[in-house]
This record gives sequence, structure tokens and C-alpha cells, in this order.
Amino acid sequence: MENRRNIFLIGFMGAGKSTIARELQRAYGMRLIEMDEQIEAQEGMPISELFAVHGEAYFRQLETELLEGLQQETDTVVSCGGGVPMRECNVEAMRKSGRIVYLSARPETVFARVRGTHTRPLLEGNMNVEYIAGLMEARLPKYLAAADLTVQTDGRSAKEICEEILSGC
Ligand code: S3P
Repeated sequence: MENRRNIFLIGFMGAGKSTIARELQRAYGMRLIEMDEQIEAQEGMPISELFAVHGEAYFRQLETELLEGLQQETDTVVSCGGGVPMRECNVEAMRKSGRIVYLSARPETVFARVRGTHTRPLLEGNMNVEYIAGLMEARLPKYLAAADLTVQTDGRSAKEICEEILSGC
């Protein structure tokens, strides 16, 4: 089988990165790396506890180390944490081994997906559309600068989104 390039899914929390990554695994047989899950397993605690115990900077360093360790992977889809493209060295590490796909979603869509969850420390106490819209706007330039391809997700099926990703990668 041909050696397919890795795909890094970036985007805001609740943009659908994990769902799309699982669909690329299920339907196209790609290997899957879920960054948050891998860090949780490695550290033996959920992200929310990791932030509380060690702080955000520690978590961000783990993200960078994880990405730098992925250089040998092929045919892998990586579901990145929403903050990954904020660090230039992370973007460089992703560029070296694959294509970067930005999954975009409207703040209202994100809110509908994340409301009622307590797994994301940045949204604790900030669980509203206004906060989500503000943080998304602040991050947008970095998402767009990192992306090889942008795929709109609002109101679309996982199948449709995966097809667009693969035809563009
Ligand atoms: C974060 C997003 C989260 C997780 C952490 C920080 C962010 O991942 O990495 O809570 O800074 O946007 P998801 O985007 O998978 O929710």
C-alpha cells in the first residue's frame, strides 16, 4: 500500500477533531493518535488535573515533546489539542511529517458540543458563546497560518468532511 502522509487535525475545542480522526481511522484505516488521551495516559491523570497540579506551561511542553516524537510516523491521523498551533515549534514539527488541516466551526456550534462537559480547563467558568467567540478570534490567525487546508464543519457529516480532507491532502 502506498505510504500516505500523516494528517494533523487542528482547530478549536469542540470543532470535531476527535470525531473526524476516529472516522479517518475507521473508514480509511489510518493509525490514530489522540494527543490529549496520550498525554493523560502518560501522566496518569486527566488534563484538568494536570493543569491544576502542574500548570498550563507544563502541559504545553508535553504537547511539544509528543509532536516532536512523531517524526517517524506515517499514515497516521493526529487529533491535536486546540492550543497546539499557538506554538511555532509545534507547527514546524507538524509540517515536517504531514499535512495540517484546520477544522473550523462557528462559536455556536462549538458551544453546543462542549456545554455540560468539564474536561477542558480553559472553558471552566467560561462556558458561554461570547468567551468561545473571543478566544476563537484571538487564535484564528495562528490556525489559518498553520493550515495547509481549511475545512468547514458546521452542519456537515463526518463522511463528507473526511472526503474533503482526503481529496485536499
Ligand atoms: C485546549 C484544548 C483541549 C486540551 C486542553 C487545552 C486548548 O483539547 O488540549 O484542554 O488550549 O484549546 P481539545 O481541543 O481536544 O478539546
